[in-house]
Amino acid sequence: MSCERVPVAVFEDSKAASVAVARRIAEIMRAKAAEGKNAVLGLATGHTPVAVYAELIRLHKEEGLDFSNVVTFNLDEYWPIAPSVMQSYWAWMHEHLFNHVNVKPENIHIPPGEVKEAEIAKLCRQYEHNITKAGGIDLQILGIGLSGHIGFNEPGSARDSRTRRIVLDRVTRKAAASDFFGEENVPSMAITMGVGTILDAREICLLAFGEHKASIVQRSVEGEINATIAATYLQKHPNAKFYLDDAAAARLTRFETPWEMGSCQWDDMLERHAVIWLARKVNKAVLRLTDEDYVEHGLGELRARGGAYDINLKVFRYLMNTITGWPAGKSKKRRVLIFSPHPDDDVICMAGTMTRLVEQGHEVHVAYMVSGYLSVFDHDVSRYADFVREFNKIFGVMPEQSATIEQHIDKFLKQKRPGDIDTTEIQSLKGLIRRAEAIDAAKYCGIEESRCHFLDMPFYNTGKVQKLSIGEADISAVRKVLETVKPDMIFAAGDLSDPHGTHRLCGEAGFIALDQYLAAGNAKPELWLYRGAWQEWSPEQISMAVPLSPDELKSKRFAIFRHQSQKDRAMFPGPFDSREFWQRAEERNISTAKLYDDLGLPEYHAMEAFAVWPLKRPANHDQQMTKI
Ligand code: F6R
Repeated sequence: MSCERVPVAVFEDSKAASVAVARRIAEIMRAKAAEGKNAVLGLATGHTPVAVYAELIRLHKEEGLDFSNVVTFNLDEYWPIAPSVMQSYWAWMHEHLFNHVNVKPENIHIPPGEVKEAEIAKLCRQYEHNITKAGGIDLQILGIGLSGHIGFNEPGSARDSRTRRIVLDRVTRKAAASDFFGEENVPSMAITMGVGTILDAREICLLAFGEHKASIVQRSVEGEINATIAATYLQKHPNAKFYLDDAAAARLTRFETPWEMGSCQWDDMLERHAVIWLARKVNKAVLRLTDEDYVEHGLGELRARGGAYDINLKVFRYLMNTITGWPAGKSKKRRVLIFSPHPDDDVICMAGTMTRLVEQGHEVHVAYMVSGYLSVFDHDVSRYADFVREFNKIFGVMPEQSATIEQHIDKFLKQKRPGDIDTTEIQSLKGLIRRAEAIDAAKYCGIEESRCHFLDMPFYNTGKVQKLSIGEADISAVRKVLETVKPDMIFAAGDLSDPHGTHRLCGEAGFIALDQYLAAGNAKPELWLYRGAWQEWSPEQISMAVPLSPDELKSKRFAIFRHQSQKDRAMFPGPFDSREFWQRAEERNISTAKLYDDLGLPEYHAMEAFAVWPLKRPANHDQQMTKI
């Protein structure tokens, strides 16, 4: 029995889901062209549909997909905003699709971002009229906002709302903050198609990717229809479908509590997941769960496989074995390589474990994958420039060259507007600030400077939040450090859907490089994953939990503080959590220890958690996936 109130297709990854949607669009375009008619497409912007447009461009260039019979209507545009501004949806659509295909400029429609207030209502009516005149929308693509919006239909939008101006929700503005380099620069309003306008489309594909979307997706798919989540209105549409990646689908009942939907294919992983879920639900230690607890909470089928006593014991022993104060073992000294996507991920996620590895005599290296310059505030650059100026005055070092760069910094930063891309000089200076902080923090954990490797992967160096795809230079940077260190053990970030995609891209390059390294005959290292700065592993995924004492946790805090440019206020804190990274890290490590304690395992102050690669999934997981 499914709890889903709208059709859902779940794909292995966002690429597969995007290709499926692009193929559906191409199918409609071709069918309409064969009938001698226009295909009318409703288009979305944002981080989600990028790969759909990339695939459409590929189909156009490599397979001759023709856009000459395509008419497009975009969902929304910020207001007020000029089309020339980099963050406008007008600019975004041209950069990601229109400039690369043969769509006729007169067939492109985007809500007007630059109109005067008095004209908005008239132009919105005109927009609706143009959609009707074009014959209505054949296929509408949607993303979903963290507020549950589709288009910019924020909470409270009515089922029959039409194109109009709307005030953006706080959550939406926070989510857009990184694109605008600060929430304060995000326009407070937008012009959006209404819910009624969207629902008039003959077919709707909603895409959602990443773990940060999992909760709103679950509420939209399985919750009652209600005006506080506009996406729930799609449940009543005759031809709407959600296209999800694995991470965005994670909270759906079929993955979260599949036993509530009927018989399950049980294996160790699902068993562990169910037992931990049950213990938390009834607020008991694992070893205290009774047969009745299992039966009363829909886990009779699991209990029937062996009885509460044996199942409890099996899960308890597993969890007990994950706890270790010797993360690299005791038998021999090992070479350990930690991959840190940004310069501070290593200490945020595993400063305690890093320090312990060094203290236990292992050779610990850190590879910092991207420079991280994007999150350095301009005032920090000015401060360092002032320092250099004063230093040079006192010590008389290279006064001429130095003066040129100082003038450049002063001049550029004075005229810089929010969101302007930094010059390469300023990008380098910002990167340098982060590099020095990373060395300082690593040294604090006992790691020598010569064991800090800075890869400066080129995919990151766009000057914008939007990154390039992974290329050969990125992969070879990772391969080189593997060849230099020849690690016995690797630690890497395993959050594959961080808000800007940097961790995911670093992971992508890392896996390709590791395959090449192994193919060249090198010994296979152990691979452990930490979960990035945003989330922790779910308990059944944890394969190693390293306890930290109160003093060790305090010391970790000081390691994070060494990243001074990120202190007090992070440039990209994410939409939900305005705390600093050290606060999140502490809370997360303390909660993991508390969870172990609640489950009836030894009580520690804090714990850093790791999952072993390859990540395991319950056996029933694959059956729930859509193949393309
Ligand atoms: C964009 C739009 C919005 C986005 C949504 C998700 O045209 O209408 O509804 O689809 O905010 O944005 P991303 O994809 O950036 O997470």
